[in-house]
Amino acid sequence: MLAAGKLVAFPTETVYGLGADAESDAAVASVYAAKGRPAVNPLIVHLADIALLERYAVPNAAALSLAERFWPGPLTLVLPRRPQCPASAAVSAGRDSIAVRIPAHPLARALLEAFGRGIAAPSANRSGRVSPTAAAHVAAEFAGVPGVPAMLLDGGASAVGIESTVLDCTGDAPVMLRAGSVTEAELHGFGCRAAGRSAEKDTPLPSPGMLESHYAPRARVRMNATQLYEGEALLEFGRTALHAAVRRNLSPSGNLEEAAHRLYALLRELDASGAAVIAVTPIPEEGIGIALNDRLRRASAPRPARPGSEPVAI
Ligand code: TXA
Ligand code: MG
Repeated sequence: MLAAGKLVAFPTETVYGLGADAESDAAVASVYAAKGRPAVNPLIVHLADIALLERYAVPNAAALSLAERFWPGPLTLVLPRRPQCPASAAVSAGRDSIAVRIPAHPLARALLEAFGRGIAAPSANRSGRVSPTAAAHVAAEFAGVPGVPAMLLDGGASAVGIESTVLDCTGDAPVMLRAGSVTEAELHGFGCRAAGRSAEKDTPLPSPGMLESHYAPRARVRMNATQLYEGEALLEFGRTALHAAVRRNLSPSGNLEEAAHRLYALLRELDASGAAVIAVTPIPEEGIGIALNDRLRRASAPRPARPGSEPVAI
């Protein structure tokens, strides 16, 4: 399917990806079209093996030590594109850098090994929406898009549940572009600078995917809720004294990894209840909680009207 230019959705340990032959302009173009993704937002190229890295990129010493420590796993490295890099220019959205990662999920590895070259794969959701952590989520996202995906590999629920950490390794010191399941503490010792939100604002779109409004369900998300308003659905972290007719718990025991694993599936469930607002109780800003809060902040950011969202008063 991939060799024929078709899109194949597959599980990774973070979220499901919508895969295309990274070396085919037409296949990569159809990923952007299927997602409704802005052409300025580049894609991650997934690899089976570190031996393929230099086919696409020029890693520096820092990148190689990060790769050795964290691959296969939920870390994406943005690297200079190799001269004559065979990947479609569109995976880089016209930039001279390319994002690569080796995923850990056995089904992803098997697919990548069988294909033999890079698979460009954004998260398998319509642009701006909640990432899929189960095959059924992918099917629901593209229910109205004929032939997308041409094949959907079901690898069960994604173990990690939120997207990879993205590091820009094009300069001397790696810079974090997107918080993820590889935490700042784990990256300590690799000389990483946390770009955080301030650097993202100062520099011209270092990681264009980190648009303010993103990862959003249909309902409005309200963070750090310590009380509830009429009609709100409740998403708790740990046990609270709040009560709501429609409620889910990210982790009754207050475990951040469990919360990451469940976040997107529970947002989908609460969204399906039809509630206008999902109120989320405070999540500690530590470890993977930093990435959880980052995604919730983007989900709660004001967003432009989209087809299928609530009607906007004019
Ligand atoms: O966990 C993940 O990373 C998942 C799975 C499927 O691997 N993929 C994923 O892809 O989250 P996507 O397309 O939803 O997010 C990729 C992020 C975006 O924020 C994008 O802007 C950034 O990586 N990115 C990709 N290439 C880049 C580049 N050359 N320079 C800067 N940022 C880049
Ligand atoms: Mg995405």
